[in-house]
Parts: sequence; C-alpha cells; structure tokens
Amino acid sequence: MSLRKIVLTGAAGRVGSALRAPLREMSATLVLVDRVPLDVAGPGEEAHQVEVAGSADLVPLVSGADAIVHLAGVPDEAPFPDLVEGNVLGTHHVLEAARRTGVRRVVLASSNRLTGFYPTGETVSPDMPPRPDGLYGVTKVAVEALARLYADKFGLEVVCLRIGSFEIEPSEPRHLATWPPG
Ligand SMILES: NC(=O)c1ccc[n+]([C@@H]2O[C@H](COP(=O)([O-])OP(=O)(O)OC[C@H]3O[C@@H](n4cnc5c(N)ncnc54)[C@H](O)[C@@H]3O)[C@@H](O)[C@H]2O)c1
Repeated sequence: MSLRKIVLTGAAGRVGSALRAPLREMSATLVLVDRVPLDVAGPGEEAHQVEVAGSADLVPLVSGADAIVHLAGVPDEAPFPDLVEGNVLGTHHVLEAARRTGVRRVVLASSNRLTGFYPTGETVSPDMPPRPDGLYGVTKVAVEALARLYADKFGLEVVCLRIGSFEIEPSEPRHLATWPPG
C-alpha cells in the first residue's frame, strides 16, 4: 500500500521511533512531529518541532495527509492538569485539524490503563465500560470519547489502539498481563 502522506506525532518517543521506518515505507511523505528536536529527516521525511497541545496551527502540517498517527502525549501518571493538556487538549487539536482539512483516518494511542481496575483474572473487551486505574487512564477515556464524537458527528475514521506495555521484555508483574509476546 502506498499513501501520499502520513503524519506521525510523538515521533521522537519510544513507540514513535519504532513506527518511523515502517510508516515511511507506507507513504511518499512521512511528516514527523514532536516537541523535542527530531533526528534529521531522511528521504521522504519532514521533521517539525511543534507543541501539539499548544496554540500551534496544525492545519498546514496535516493538510493533504491520508492518515495521522497521534502518539504525542503524557504516557504515564502525572499531575492532572498536565495529563489533561497533553492527552485531551492535544488529541482535540489533532482531531480538529483533521476535520478541518478532510484527513480521513486518525489513529490514537489509548491504553490498557483505561480498563486497569478490572480484576486481573477477568478478560476485558472494548464493549465493557471503562474502569481506569488512575488519572492517566481517565484521560484515555476522554481520548476515546473524543474519537467517538469525531467519528459520529463528522465521519472521521478514528482507531483507538489500547496499547499494552511497549517493552523489550516484561520488567514487572503487571506486564505479565499487558505485555503481548511476539
Ligand atoms: N509505551 C507504552 O507501553 C504505552 C502503553 C499504552 C499507551 N501508550 C501511549 O502511546 C503514546 C506514546 O507512548 P510512548 O511510550 O512512545 O511515550 P514517549 O514519552 O516515549 O513518547 C511521547 C513523545 O511525544 C512527545 N510529546 C509529548 N507531548 C507532546 C506535545 N504536547 N506536543 C508534541 N510532542 C509531545 C514527547 O516529546 C515524546 O517524544 C502515548 O500517548 C502513550 O500514552 C504507550
């Protein structure tokens, strides 16, 4: 599959760095976005240092994209205002830029923390009500609610990936439930 343009936010992070090469293979142009400086853009890449949750205009960055993979955010527990700004406001800015420019598909980074309060032995599914295990998980509930709104109201295709534990190997007991092998 070859797309014209994919935008990857949080491109300097752990998950973003791992997705950079495969996404570059899938599109003519990969637009890398992060608030920290990125490695020099390679062939077919553009790098932009941008604060996604701030007042920056994201429209020129996402205009003409086939898809946005939005990973930028606060990836763990933090003061609630920081979580809300990074995860909820940032996601809203990205979805709004997608809506305004007609980007069809947005992939959002959700988390298993959204269902972290279910008993360990219980198998959870996306149909079950959220039971977040902390304020980080609460913001991911809001992220998924924003996704639902933009899909229902504006027809965007929004995929919420409830990422488990992105680790080379399990490093704590909890990872035995959240770390997928292979
Ligand atoms: N790593 C995991 O196991 C895991 C599990 C579940 C969900 N997730 C989610 O996946 C996403 C990526 O996680 P990660 O582990 O790669 O995190 P990370 O902290 O390694 O990377 C996040 C990147 O986003 C950038 N960033 C953060 N806020 C930003 C903003 N407002 N504007 C621009 N750039 C910003 C950071 O500079 C960083 O490079 C996050 O949304 C996280 O909540 C990760």
